Amino acid sequence: MPIHIHQQGKFFHLTNQKISYIMQVLEDGSLGNLYFGKKVADRTDFSHLIESAYRPNTAYASQEDYSFSREHMRQEFPVYGTTDFRHPAISVLYENGSRVSAFQVKEHAVHSGKRKLAGLPSTYVESPEEATTLEITLEDSLAGVVVMLNYTLYEDRPVVTRSVRVRNDGQKNVKLERLLSMNLDLPDAEYELLQLSGAWGRERHPYFRRLIPGIQSVESARGSSSHYQNPFIALKRPDATEQTGEVLGFSFVYSGNFLAQVEVDTYNVARVSMGINPFGFGWLLEPGQTFQAPEVVMVHSGNGLNGMSQTFHSLYRQRLSRGTWRDKERPILINNWEATGMDFTEQQLLDFAETAYQDGVELFVLDDGWFGGRRNEQAGLGDWFVNRELLPEGIDGLAEKIEAIGLRFGLWFEPEMVNADSDLFRAHPDWIIHTPERPVSHGRHQYVLDFARSEVVDHIYTMISKILREAKISYVKWDMNRCITEAYSPSLPAERQGEVFHRYMLGVYDLYERLTSEFPEILFEFCASGGGRFDPGMIYYSPQGWTSDDTDAVERLKIQYGTSFVYPLSSMGAHVSAAPNEQLHRYTPLETRGNVSAFGSFGYELDLNKLTEQERAIVKEQIMFIKKYRKIIHSGTFYRLMSPFDGNYCAWMVVSEDKRTVLVGQYKILNEVNAPFRRLHLIGLDPSIEYVDISDGKGYYGDELMHIGLVTSDTSCGQVLDGRKPSCDFDSKIYIFEAK
Ligand code: DGJ
Repeated sequence: MPIHIHQQGKFFHLTNQKISYIMQVLEDGSLGNLYFGKKVADRTDFSHLIESAYRPNTAYASQEDYSFSREHMRQEFPVYGTTDFRHPAISVLYENGSRVSAFQVKEHAVHSGKRKLAGLPSTYVESPEEATTLEITLEDSLAGVVVMLNYTLYEDRPVVTRSVRVRNDGQKNVKLERLLSMNLDLPDAEYELLQLSGAWGRERHPYFRRLIPGIQSVESARGSSSHYQNPFIALKRPDATEQTGEVLGFSFVYSGNFLAQVEVDTYNVARVSMGINPFGFGWLLEPGQTFQAPEVVMVHSGNGLNGMSQTFHSLYRQRLSRGTWRDKERPILINNWEATGMDFTEQQLLDFAETAYQDGVELFVLDDGWFGGRRNEQAGLGDWFVNRELLPEGIDGLAEKIEAIGLRFGLWFEPEMVNADSDLFRAHPDWIIHTPERPVSHGRHQYVLDFARSEVVDHIYTMISKILREAKISYVKWDMNRCITEAYSPSLPAERQGEVFHRYMLGVYDLYERLTSEFPEILFEFCASGGGRFDPGMIYYSPQGWTSDDTDAVERLKIQYGTSFVYPLSSMGAHVSAAPNEQLHRYTPLETRGNVSAFGSFGYELDLNKLTEQERAIVKEQIMFIKKYRKIIHSGTFYRLMSPFDGNYCAWMVVSEDKRTVLVGQYKILNEVNAPFRRLHLIGLDPSIEYVDISDGKGYYGDELMHIGLVTSDTSCGQVLDGRKPSCDFDSKIYIFEAK
């Protein structure tokens, strides 16, 4: 029984072989947090972990007791206004204008397995034995507001997932002004905060900063999780490295506005909280109504940042991602976007596909520009029917031709958007998110459809599902290319306008759920101007996403390196594009473009017909390599070895589950002259296995590769006198080792 409950529900100890999470009901009946970390032995009483003392200038709830102030308590789901002055997990506005609540533990229940969250993505179990769930119910008895805190402990993972439901059992309306999905008060603040931040074209770069008193946070208020901040933070001990030391990771399974915050109080307690961004949020709960907040995944690692990432990777690959494609080898695709933009003919696409087939590509993806009046950014979005002038035999006709060539066929959609120049907008100008009587902003000449309205979602579903039903489509790229402004839905009354952002996300998830369940064989790939909505919420519906519009190999090292802190390689769409690169105008060797993309879900984003015979030979080799190793790349254990943010090199590796195959990618940014010799210390090998470098047949034992290191010196070390290929800028190599 991984959930121990002592003294009739006073102590809760969630524990498996790896971690412990301990809570206690406090003397005012609220719930306190005692511990989250490495496993400790169970005991029937943990109350010694509560420290409390009289302190001046503190407010006390009880007349008699100077030892109990909520300000000094480490709480599980705090409120503001009753002696705790930090930011709360929940704030309820009552009809009389008050925001004071008092939530006391009412009851608890335990069940095996893990239940779905209504309308929301979440991690799951395949059998009830995989996890146990504890639900603790808190109640504000005066208002009749009930808060249900859910904790799931996986049997064999250092993971606790959390979510919250609030029900109005009272007689009057209440408004949720803030409802975070988790709060954790840690007893000290000796941590560095890791966040993944960026912008379009440079998503998810890692930033570390030491915690200091006050609030440090990342958030999105753009309607999507965004390019700018990712719904993730980690706290690492200052001495923790990639391989050693304690790290706590927090990841939000949601794709809309979020807040991830650490508030360090004056006594060095670090309050970590995460959930829907309260900024712009408000949810009216009428008597009898319930609100479900999304899930947070909390990971504990005693093995540094790599340990944390590996836990996220396996959980998100195996128990967040779903469906036919979850465990299948992903097809090597070619996408026409960077080669043609919207300026293509059917014959050009077929020529494209023919060459791709000859080289070993498996899937052809037709990107933006095939529908309605779409020939540029100004028109067509929302009209999800084929442009017959362009594709005379329709999408079904084109799909058949591509299939006849020997490739599968994939298609681009941007379901959430509309151009003013479209039949959809002309018929339903009121279907966009906009504030009445105010100007409406555009992004890329497009408007955001009001997915808070079910009739809008139904209409888009009808159009898209018709195409998916009628043509042989094996893959869908679901794009989303702008942020939400003037957030307001004319379909909702004034007092519910704070619900628009979240209702929008529920509409998006509803459409994803309908399409993915009706077309289980289709591989869905999420995208938002590159990686603008790269989050766990999306991975629940689509096992892979477009990592960034920046396909330059050197930039991609940073983007993929940063993304790997949370997201598995199988989720990162990574394509070889043309050189000079469209975004950076940089020339990188084709080999390096392939060596970077290999550590992701692999594809091409260029016109193969424009390559030389020699380059085509390299492409064929790359494809053969991916076909041979993609299963291992996606299911093996990934380690970051050298950060591209630290210097001239980047390195990472994957070890197969049975530890018999090892792939090491090493990348040099700028070439060097007469440079030092180099070694790379590998990780996670079996010390007693002899690993053979398949390029030259030389063997090395695992302990040697880990402790002495793999010699990676190249021709930049010393001078090239012996006819070997001189190394160059942006050089790279993938070392392949097989057990002897
Ligand atoms: C943005 C995506 O990130 C690109 O890959 C491409 O699909 C364009 N949109 C098409 O408009």
